Amino acid sequence: MFITIFLLLIAFVRSDIPRDIPSFSIDLDLDPIDRWSNVIPNFSQPMHEFNDEIRAQIPQVYIDVAEIIATQLDNYIPQPYHDELHSIARAISMLPADIVLINLVYELRTYCTSLLVRTLDGTILHGRNLDYDLNTDLLRRLTFHGRFFRMSNPTFEYESIHFAGSIGLLTGSRKGYFSLTINERDKNNKHWWINALMAILHLHTMPLFIITRTIFDNPFMSYKEMKYKLEHQHLIAPVYFILTDGQSSGAIITRNRLNSINPIELNSTLVQTNYDHWLDDPINDLRRTTAENILRTFNITQMTIDNIFNIALSVIPVLNRNTVYTAIMNPAKNQEIFAKIRTLK
Ligand SMILES: *[C@@H]1O[C@H](CO)[C@@H](O)[C@H](O)[C@H]1NC(C)=O
Ligand SMILES: *[C@@H]1O[C@H](CO)[C@@H](O)[C@H](O)[C@H]1NC(C)=O
Ligand SMILES: *[C@@H]1O[C@H](CO)[C@@H](O)[C@H](O)[C@H]1NC(C)=O
Repeated sequence: MFITIFLLLIAFVRSDIPRDIPSFSIDLDLDPIDRWSNVIPNFSQPMHEFNDEIRAQIPQVYIDVAEIIATQLDNYIPQPYHDELHSIARAISMLPADIVLINLVYELRTYCTSLLVRTLDGTILHGRNLDYDLNTDLLRRLTFHGRFFRMSNPTFEYESIHFAGSIGLLTGSRKGYFSLTINERDKNNKHWWINALMAILHLHTMPLFIITRTIFDNPFMSYKEMKYKLEHQHLIAPVYFILTDGQSSGAIITRNRLNSINPIELNSTLVQTNYDHWLDDPINDLRRTTAENILRTFNITQMTIDNIFNIALSVIPVLNRNTVYTAIMNPAKNQEIFAKIRTLK
């Protein structure tokens, strides 16, 4: 019975045709005002469409608040990210406030499945589906594979599966150091953007896009230091962090704005969607339970990138109509993130 249903699901999944993701390099030695100028013009059209969608949903008064944050960036957004934000805005003739809002939408409205599994060779695979419930097709057009490097330091590089216009990372990997994914928490908060803007404006809390970039841009940041930062740094909104050093440790950190609650460490497998791990999945969203059940049928020799991609992250509803991309990282062994756009109809 289970096997039949399982095979039917796999057959159904064939209606998704995974697509390659365009790739862009970002040289961190360039002046921040020029860093994005080779990338962002390629996404001008979908970025303007996305911006119109956001503006249609957010009352003008909060766009004005974003404008205050953007014009007094020195107070709220440290360098070099302040200049990066301006360079993105300028490259496609948008207001810096628009880019602030786009960054907040990207980081606080993504419903995802992240998983960690130990493999036969002792390394840890870190997989994720990124789901986005509005304008999913637009998000597919905004996705690219970002390769960050420094001409002056050939040993320094990291990768991100990136949304155009975003400064921070939602899916990032640095070989020999760590990988990180971020899943949204607090899915039913209708006032998320009020809270987020107010936390930046009044509490001087740094948005995630700054926190994640300061982690990945620091050549000396270790897994332990990253973990400490993600557990303790004040945030503008609750989120889940899924992280691993690729070799010995992995963890899920459940965050409130001010603190971490009940973190869990990887034994053999861990799955996180958008609900606290100590609660059951809601009956209308069984993504975590489904992925856990699939992983339970795998023995350790079956914990491979192929099986994680083709089965664990392709079974419905883990793969669903809102899935924008699937990414699989192996930070102990590969710098390259394996990633595909997903298009389940
Ligand atoms: C980005 O745009 C430039 C200029 O139009 C073009 O040459 C390049 O191929 C584009 N890159 C990608 C990955 O689409
Ligand atoms: C991992 O194993 C330890 C020891 O058996 C156990 O206490 C812990 O709950 C396990 N963690 C998870 C996430 O299953
Ligand atoms: C894992 O499962 C596969 C497929 O069922 C089987 O061929 C293989 O022998 C199993 N390996 C181990 C170590 O149990």
